[in-house]
Amino acid sequence: MIPRRSRRSITVAAALAILLAGCGLAPSTSPVDAVDFDSPLAIPPLADSTVENGVRVFELTAQEGQLAFTDGDTTATRGFNGEFLGPTVRAERGEEIAFRITNELTDETTVHWHGMHLPPEMDGGPHQPIAPGESWEPTWTIDQPAATLWYHPHPHGATEHQVYQGLAGLFLVDDEHSSTATLPQEYGVDDIPVIVQDRDMDVETGQIEHDRLGGDGTEVGLLGNVIMTNGVIGAYRDVTTDRVRLRLLNGSTARTYSFGFEDRSVMLVASDGGLMPEPVELDEVRLSPGERAEIVVEMDPGERAMLRSFPPDLGNLAAGFAAGEKDEFDVLELRAASELRGTDEPSWTYEDVGLVESDATVEREFELNGRRINGAEMDMSRIDEVVEVGSTEIWTVRNGELNPHNFHVHDVQFEVLTIDGEAPPRELSGRKDTIYLEPHREYRLLMRFEHFTNPEVPYMYHCHLLQHEDAGLMGQFVVVEPGEEPGEPPEQEHHDH
Ligand code: C2O
Ligand code: CU
Repeated sequence: MIPRRSRRSITVAAALAILLAGCGLAPSTSPVDAVDFDSPLAIPPLADSTVENGVRVFELTAQEGQLAFTDGDTTATRGFNGEFLGPTVRAERGEEIAFRITNELTDETTVHWHGMHLPPEMDGGPHQPIAPGESWEPTWTIDQPAATLWYHPHPHGATEHQVYQGLAGLFLVDDEHSSTATLPQEYGVDDIPVIVQDRDMDVETGQIEHDRLGGDGTEVGLLGNVIMTNGVIGAYRDVTTDRVRLRLLNGSTARTYSFGFEDRSVMLVASDGGLMPEPVELDEVRLSPGERAEIVVEMDPGERAMLRSFPPDLGNLAAGFAAGEKDEFDVLELRAASELRGTDEPSWTYEDVGLVESDATVEREFELNGRRINGAEMDMSRIDEVVEVGSTEIWTVRNGELNPHNFHVHDVQFEVLTIDGEAPPRELSGRKDTIYLEPHREYRLLMRFEHFTNPEVPYMYHCHLLQHEDAGLMGQFVVVEPGEEPGEPPEQEHHDH
C-alpha cells in the first residue's frame, strides 16, 4: 500500500491565510479560476490504422475547428482528425509504421514525434514543413522501450501558436515489458490519458484568447486562467478499480505543474522514456512543458479524490510568482464507484538499455541564456553540433539565468547522471527526453546516438517553453558516420516567421 501523505502544506497555508487576514492582507489568490468539476473527462479515441504490405498506416489531418468549452459560444480551435487535440496513436515496438498527414490549415505546419527514436527526415521538426493543402508521409520502425510519447507541430517560429490552438496528441509505444507488467492497462478505463493544458479564456463568452502569445513581456510565456484535461475544463472521471494509472502529459506552452493529491501519495511508474527502474513513491510530481509521467493512484470505494497542482518548486527564480510558482489549483476529480475491482501491486521488468557513463567519448556543454544557447539564437541553416553515430555522450546543460527553462533533445532518451555533482532524485532515475532546469544548476545527461545518420538533416535540442523555443532558444545537431563531414541543411521554401 502507498502510505498517506502528510498534510503539512495545508496546515501551513491555512495558518498563513489566518495570519494575513488578521493583518488586513488577503492571501495571494491563484490566477487560475476555480470551477466546478462536473464534466466527464473526454478520452481521446485510439487512432485507426490499416495494415498495408506489413506497414501499419495511420492518417492524421491537421484541421481548423470550433468547440464550446463552456456553456458559452464556440471558439476557434485546431485539431488532428477533429476539433481539438488528436487521437491517441498506439503501436508496438518492432512495428513498421507510416503516417499520411494532410495539412488542411491555412498555414504551414509540421508533425513532430516527441520522444521518438527515428531517422531525422521523419522527425517532423522545422525541416519537414507541410504547406497548406499538402501531405507528408513519414515512415519508420519503432525501436525503443514502451513509453508515453506525444506528437505536436514544430514549425519554425510558430510552435507556440499551433500547440496552443489545439494541435497535440499522445503516442503510446507498447512492448513485451509494458504488456506483461502488473499495471492497470485498459485504455480509458483504468489506464487513463490526461493531457493537461492551460489557456487564457474569457469564461463568460468561452473564447480562447491569443493576445499574450508570442511574448508579452513575462519571462515564462502565457500562463492561462483556465486548466483543461483532454480539452475539458473541470473534468471528473469515474473509476472502477482500486488502482488507476494516469498518463500525464504537460502539453502546456509555458506552465510547470506539480501534480499530487492532498491526502495520498502516488507511485511514479514511468517517466518520459518509459518504465522506471523501480517504483518511486511521491507526494508531488513536477512536470514542465513537454514532460510526461505515468502514476498509479490508489482509490477507496465511493470516495472522490482531486488531482491538484501544488505550488511547483521552480528553483531559485528572480520572479518565481510570475512563472507560476505560487499557483495551486484543482486539475481532475476521480470518482470511485461504490465497489471497486481489486488490482495487484504494480510490478514490472525494467529494461536496462546499457547506457554507461564510462562509454562516453564526447562531452558537450550547453548554457541557456535569454533566447540563446551558448550565445547563439537558432539558425535553420547552421549545424551547431556534429555527433558520430554509435557514440555515447555526456551533455552538460545549465540554465545560466534566474528565469525558467527546460531542455529537450530529439531522437534520444537520456539518463540524468548528476545535478550539481550529486545523484539526481529518484524521480529522475528513469529515461527522460525533457528536463526542467533550475537556475544555475548543472545537469549532466548521458545519451547514445544510434542507427540513423544524415549529414544534412538535423535534429533539434531546445527549451520546451514554446515561446522561448520560437524566439530562438534552440539548436541543431546532425548524426553522421564516423569521419563524415556535416552538410548544409536544405533550403526551406515555405520558411515563414
Ligand atoms: Cu516536443 Cu522539439 O519538441
Ligand atoms: Cu526557456
